[in-house]
Amino acid sequence: MTNVENWPHLYHAGTPASPVLLLLHGTGGTEHDLLPLAERLAPGAGYLSPRGPVQEQGMNRWFRRFGEGQFDVDDVVRRAGELTDFIGWAREHHGLGGRKIIAVGFSNGANIALATVLLHPEVLTDVVAFSGMYPLGDRTVDGGLAGTAVALFNGEADAMAPLTSVMQLKSVLDAAGADVHQSVREGGHGVHASEVEGAAAWVSSRTATTTS
Ligand code: MLT
Repeated sequence: MTNVENWPHLYHAGTPASPVLLLLHGTGGTEHDLLPLAERLAPGAGYLSPRGPVQEQGMNRWFRRFGEGQFDVDDVVRRAGELTDFIGWAREHHGLGGRKIIAVGFSNGANIALATVLLHPEVLTDVVAFSGMYPLGDRTVDGGLAGTAVALFNGEADAMAPLTSVMQLKSVLDAAGADVHQSVREGGHGVHASEVEGAAAWVSSRTATTTS
């Protein structure tokens, strides 16, 4: 169980009118990894960048897995709950008030961001997911995502985030009422320059909308 008050993280307030990007690194990453990406997505924005609390052979992750692409879904659900608690704590502790929080995740970080918006849309409404996939195994959600917006950026030949899972994710999000932006490019796992451009435009359009 992660104690949210002691969760290692970086915080930068940014300009008050900007959103706060919740940066969620990939497997084996740290809270420093996505800072350059944040600056490209929303220059001058605030950020909150925690470290993945699960260890896999010395690598930081956000939830356990049994093997490549085989998620421990009970742990995904538990860890999404803990991240939700962290977001609530951080909103209070860092005095974020009504500022919009936009999660930006890569790979395993995208997957925990997606699980969190699927299971806790009352706390996280906006997600940019690079190389993410459906994180909840054979579980689904029953609606309730009408106030959420999710931008999915994937490679069509990504063995780690297969297109079948990405399309399952899209249809669950659509059915639950989320506003989904999807971009599928050639190639595999990673963040391409064209996706950064697309994500920056999406973040900018979401920032212009009313905060909850
Ligand atoms: C995951 O475990 O979340 C995905 O397989 C991506 C990754 O390897 O991090």
